[in-house]
Amino acid sequence: MKLLVINGPNLNLLGLREPELYGKKTYRDLEAAIYRWAEELGAEVEIFQSNHEGAIVDKIQAAYGAFDAIIINPAAYTHTSVAILDALKAVSLPAAEVHLTDVTKREPFRQISFAGMACQAHFIGLGFEGYRQAMQHFINQQSKID
Ligand code: DQA
Repeated sequence: MKLLVINGPNLNLLGLREPELYGKKTYRDLEAAIYRWAEELGAEVEIFQSNHEGAIVDKIQAAYGAFDAIIINPAAYTHTSVAILDALKAVSLPAAEVHLTDVTKREPFRQISFAGMACQAHFIGLGFEGYRQAMQHFINQQSKID
C-alpha cells in the first residue's frame, strides 16, 4: 500500500502558528509521526507539503498510477479550491480528508470543504491522530479486498 500524504499552506508552520488552535508540535514532529505509523502499519508513505495551489494540483495529478490512496489536508485551500477538488476527481484515487482542528465548529467560511467532496472518509478535529486513522482506514480497506 503506497500512500501519499498532502499538506496544504501554512501547515509547515505548525508549532509556530496559532499554537492555541494547532498545538505546539512542529511540522517535523508531524512528519516523524506519519513515518512511524506507516512503518507500524506496513505501508509506504510519501509526504508532500506546499503553500501553492497549483503545486498541490500537480502532485495529485502525478499520483495517478503511482499511489494507492491520497490523504489530504488542503488547509485553507479546503474552503476555496475547486481546482484541488477537480484534480482529486480526475485521478479518482481513494482519498481521505484530514483536518487537525474541528472545522465544523469554526468560522462560517470554514464550513465548506471542496476537497472533502471527493473524499470517502473524513478525520476532523483529531489533531495528528487524524492522519493515523486515515492511514489505518486504507490499510483496513486493503485487507478487506485481499
Ligand atoms: C486546517 C483547517 C483550515 O481551515 C485551516 O485553513 C488550516 C488548517 C486544519 O488542519 O485544521 O490551515 O486544515
